[in-house]
Amino acid sequence: MAKKIFIKTFGCQMNEYDSNRIYDSVKKIGFKKTDDQKNADCFVLNTCHIRDKAKEKVYHEIGRVKKIYKQKNKPIIVIAGCVAQAENQEMLKREPYIDIVIGPQSYHKINEVLKKFIPNEQKEETEFDTISKFEYFDKIENKGNKISAFLTIQEGCDKFCSFCVVPFTRGPEYSRPLGKILCEADTLIKNGAKEITLLGQNVNAYSYFENSKEYKLSDLIMELEKFTELKRIRYTTSHPLDMTDDLIECYKKSKKLVPFVHLPVQSGSNKILKLMNRKHTIEKYLSIYEKLKKINPIIEFSSDFIIAYPGETEEDFNYTMQLVKKIKFINSYSFIFSPRPGTVASNLKLIETKVAKKRLNLIQSELFSYQSSKNKMTENKIVNVLVENKIKNQNKFFGRTECMTAVIFDGEENIEGQIVPVLITNSNQNNLFGEIKLKKDIKAA
Ligand code: SAM
Ligand code: SF4
Ligand code: F3S
Repeated sequence: MAKKIFIKTFGCQMNEYDSNRIYDSVKKIGFKKTDDQKNADCFVLNTCHIRDKAKEKVYHEIGRVKKIYKQKNKPIIVIAGCVAQAENQEMLKREPYIDIVIGPQSYHKINEVLKKFIPNEQKEETEFDTISKFEYFDKIENKGNKISAFLTIQEGCDKFCSFCVVPFTRGPEYSRPLGKILCEADTLIKNGAKEITLLGQNVNAYSYFENSKEYKLSDLIMELEKFTELKRIRYTTSHPLDMTDDLIECYKKSKKLVPFVHLPVQSGSNKILKLMNRKHTIEKYLSIYEKLKKINPIIEFSSDFIIAYPGETEEDFNYTMQLVKKIKFINSYSFIFSPRPGTVASNLKLIETKVAKKRLNLIQSELFSYQSSKNKMTENKIVNVLVENKIKNQNKFFGRTECMTAVIFDGEENIEGQIVPVLITNSNQNNLFGEIKLKKDIKAA
């Protein structure tokens, strides 16, 4: 009988992609994916190290798993992801319940490690071996069967922002060969994908050389454009420094690249950006915004903000507020600075929690109120929705607009994978609600 594997995934889309690739890999050695975490033979925690007590969260999760399996055989416990990479030996020493620690650039070894597993013999795999990893996974079909699929094209980061663990947990920048990416895209599309989100910690730094020619993200987008069955192309997460003119031009040239840009800025103050080692200024950021808006005025933006970075004064914070008021971002992420072990900013003097929380509240109420009013403005209008799935036990469907807003609506059977016009009748901060409009109704309206 097949052994069962359960993966609990934290963190970013890249972890989600990795978890699915781990499922694809372990199938070859007789493991079958299960959604029942109480009855697994192998329990994987795919962890994230980006903020707060990441390590403690993992130990807390292990405590929970221990309770679940108190009266049963213990599953093989695997800690994967960015905490595994950062903490490796430490974790094995502190928690004997852990069997395997495996870093994100060592997933090509997962089958070997599981095959050779011996109870009570802990194992660690945390080398940065990105090329071997992708060469290995290139040979294993991506079994994704989602309408909206993820495809990692680039890994790692060479930018070393002073607050960020990613260069330490994912290693140096690496871009996959263009041909391999297109092959994987082809498989995903054949398996039903209508939308592909290209992923990378610095996705727009994508750069692959073949026969002395450089292929960039803009080339990849134009190649993907050629797949007739593919309807939408997205990419995340990008850095302002790599937002080059050829990529900006894609918003004119491509018919499938969505008019939505997630472009993290972190702060509106040049002084703070410098302290963060972001390597871009607010003027640079605004010039990208202006260029994109000029090319296509309907492009919407979202961003990431770090609030109360050490040294942030009221004046610096007000610059961030000004930027938020100017650009009117949708769907942004904002968090209080969290010191991460091993980073340049880890030992800097923190801003008082009360002040940090007040600033976070202020920025979030501005961001959220714009998000709500933007959604409200969509009421009584028709939006194009890519239908991802039918909602369980309800006669409703779930999909997203081009700008990623979630839409829940009444529809008809068998519309998954189609882009349908939906009349928005209601909304809240995060969702739009409505009903599908048939072509005949639109004409009649
Ligand atoms: N590469 C992207 C970029 O340069 O903008 C960001 C990738 S990072 C995985 C995602 C987000 O996590 C960042 O944009 C940042 O806002 C947030 N983040 C990273 N380190 C953080 C920290 N120490 N404290 C709070 N937020 C953090
Ligand atoms: Fe982290 Fe992004 Fe900076 Fe790289 S560019 S260090 S991933 S925030
Ligand atoms: Fe977290 Fe690692 Fe992604 S730290 S955000 S899982 S790259």
